[in-house]
Formats: sequence, C-alpha cells, structure tokens
Amino acid sequence: MADALLRSLRYRVELYVADRMRNPFNVKHSREHAVYPNLDPEGVCTFFEKHRSRIDFILVGPEEPIIRGIRDLGEKKTGIPFVCPTKAFALEASKVSQRLLLEQVAPELNPRFKVFRPEDFSSVDETKRELWKWLDELGNEAVVKPDGATRGKGVGVWGDHFNNREELLEHFLSNYQFGPVVVEEKLVGEESSFMALCDGRRLVPLPETRDYKRAFEGDRGPNTGGMGSYKDANDWLPFMSEHDWQQEFHVVKRLFEHLRGRTRNEGLLGLPFYVAFMHTAVGPKILEVNSRPGDPEVQNILPVMKDDFVDVCFSIIGGTLNRVDVDKKATVVVYKVPPTYGGRAREYVGDRRVDLAEAEALAGGKVDRLRIYPGALELKNDENYALSSRTVCAVGIADSIEEARDISLEGINAVKGGSLWYRSDIASREHIQRSIDRMRALRR
Ligand code: AMP
Ligand code: GLY
Repeated sequence: MADALLRSLRYRVELYVADRMRNPFNVKHSREHAVYPNLDPEGVCTFFEKHRSRIDFILVGPEEPIIRGIRDLGEKKTGIPFVCPTKAFALEASKVSQRLLLEQVAPELNPRFKVFRPEDFSSVDETKRELWKWLDELGNEAVVKPDGATRGKGVGVWGDHFNNREELLEHFLSNYQFGPVVVEEKLVGEESSFMALCDGRRLVPLPETRDYKRAFEGDRGPNTGGMGSYKDANDWLPFMSEHDWQQEFHVVKRLFEHLRGRTRNEGLLGLPFYVAFMHTAVGPKILEVNSRPGDPEVQNILPVMKDDFVDVCFSIIGGTLNRVDVDKKATVVVYKVPPTYGGRAREYVGDRRVDLAEAEALAGGKVDRLRIYPGALELKNDENYALSSRTVCAVGIADSIEEARDISLEGINAVKGGSLWYRSDIASREHIQRSIDRMRALRR
C-alpha cells in the first residue's frame, strides 16, 4: 500500500508510517517512521496527531487496530480521515456474529453451523455430549473455529488438523476455554478471495485472487497468513467462470446493502469486505469475512491498478468512488518465510540476516514486472533481520500466470540469507489444473 501511494503520478506523496517494526521499505520511503510493536491505537494516533498538519488521510492495513477501533479513536483525536471501517463494522472481530449476520442476509452462503458458548453449558461433559450430537449430524466432517482473534489453536479442519473426535475435542477445548467456538460443516471445493473497495455508498469489486493458506506444498500443514497468491489476467480465476465472480459480487453486495441502509454508511470505508469463498458443488459459500485488505492478496492487485491510488483513497473518503480500473495482467506473489514459520522447524537455526540487494537490483531492471516487498523484516545497523512472521515477498507481473510465476520465483530466489524457505507450488500449472479438475468433478 505504501508503494502504491508513492507511485502516484498526480501527487507528491509524503509518507508517515506507524509500523510494527523497522520495516526496511517503510523506513527508507517515509518522511517519519515510528515503531509500535502492537500497533496500539492510542500510541499510533499520538504519532499521527503530532504530524496532523501534513497528513491528508490515514490508511490502515492489519486487522487488530481496526477491530480495536483505531478509526473511531483516531478521527476524534486527530481530525484526519481514516480509510478503514469503524469498530462497529469490523466484521472480522467475531466469527459467531458473522455467521449470524449471514444467516439473516444470505443463509445459503453459510455452511451448517452451531455456536458453542461456555455460558450455555454447566460442565465440559455437557458441552461434550452436545458436541458429539452435532458431530453425529455432520458425520464428523467438521471445522472448529474460535470466535475471535486466535488464542487457542485457531481454525481446525477434520482430516487435516484432527482425525478423530478426541483430537477434535482437544482442539475445541483449546479455544473454548477463551470463549465461544463455532463448529461447522466442512465444505469441499476450491477457495478464492473476493475483495471490494467501498466508499460507504458503493461497493467496487476487485479482481479475484487465490491465496495459499496452508504452510506446505500440496496444501498440507497448518493454516498460515498466506504463503503466496495469484491473480489471472481476467477478473476471475482459472477454475471459476465470470458468472461465479459476479455471483460473489452480488451476494457481498447484498451483505453491504443490508449494513449500509439507504444511502451511505461512513462506517464502511476502505476494504470492509475481503471475503474468503469456497466454491462448492452447490455454489459459493463463505468461509470468512475480513474487514481489511488480504495479505498477500492485495499485493496481486495494487501493482496493476491503473487508477492513481491516492485518488482512490480520496474518493473513498469523499463518497465518490465509482469504479477502479485494473490492468489485464496476471500476478503471482510468493513469500519467503523463516524456518520456524508454519511450524516447519522448532527453532530458528542459522543466520537471520537477509540480503535484498540482488532481488531489488533485479526488480529495478524489470520495471513493472517484479516488485519486492519486505514484511516481517527488521532494519538494524544497515542490515535486515528476519523476524518470526512472513519475511519478504516477490510479485511477478505478466500477461499469463505462468510467466508471472517465473518472474516471481526469480525474484524470490534472488532474496539471499536468513535460512528462509518458500512454497514452490504457488500458482504452478499442476496446482491450478488440479483446481480446475476438482471444480469440474464437483459440478458434474
Ligand atoms: P478462516 O480463518 O475462517 O479463513 O479459515 C482458515 C482456513 O480454514 C480456510 O482458508 C479454509 O482452508 C479452512 N476452512 C475454514 N472454514 C472451513 C469450512 N467450513 N470447510 C472447509 N474448510 C474450511
Ligand atoms: N491471506 C489471508 C489473510 O489475509 O487473512
């Protein structure tokens, strides 16, 4: 997002970044840079307040500050408009509320689900009996989801994270001790990410992307923030039809209109609908609604957005967003991550220093074909150190997914050091073909 703003041709952009760490890209390109490891809204807003006279708007990326109401607090404190939803519309905050909201607006988008609230049961035994009954109904094929931000084991899927009821129960209880847990039907199909920009009045859909959530090749291992992603030259994906994409837009629009009311709801600014869909035999179903840009997915889109991103932000604030043009290019994002990421290794053995020089030089020679974006990377005494989350990604941009993938892989391989690794099957021909075949078989 910082890069997209800086590439504005119409404005001379000055960046003020409140960051989790000394991210080398942000440090290098900002006029002022401040570190708030937890991005606590109070601290972050104090920083912006200090620079209030020079700031036109504030763009928020990650979910925690949005959920904690950074916009509500920040606009009061600084008077600067924020491009993100208010706390009331951070749908991401509760998986239970999401399911209940969908039940009201578009129940066909929900899998069969049941909410287990600790206050509804007098003992763990009683909960267990009820859970067993529900598993009977689902034929055991269930997904366990904590209501809020994950403190237990997060989302667990039958057949992947547990293979029998006792294991499922253990997963369930690790979350249930902190609050409500949703137990829902395991959906079979292909996943995609739908994102739309919003000015509170209108919803403007962006091209579809495919995220690779699982840590390891062949979609195995634990869920991660996303190991990589792709976008086709079209607005939809190779295993979808244009109709599928429009159907997604249509249902998200219904959700939006329900929340918006009649004219405009200024609570819904920015990217309040980043919806993970599962394309099943009986149509699309919603896995999850997020109220922020998807990472890596937004990096598939911003580099090929034809509109000036600063103008897009101004029209979001002004309520004049009409449409957004995205270049008909395919893009592929591949992340390099630390050895411990996704539970691959127990300990970070090896040098944490990461050298971006070669990758950045390569990107410099491939203008508009390769971008290198550091993530959880810390600049210290002129050297970059990998932290524990996703370290750096390469975005390849080309006419076809295959070509974009080659460029992305060339870029990520030019990132040296840090004992980093990546998933080598992101957007591979085999992976995509498998999605196409599976979708065909499901729909037959
Ligand atoms: P979430 O955090 O809800 O997006 O879930 C993370 C991942 O868990 C998704 O990307 C899916 O791979 C998987 N998942 C979540 N819900 C379901 C479901 N009902 N059926 C199958 N897989 C699911
Ligand atoms: N790509 C997954 C996420 O942003 O939550």
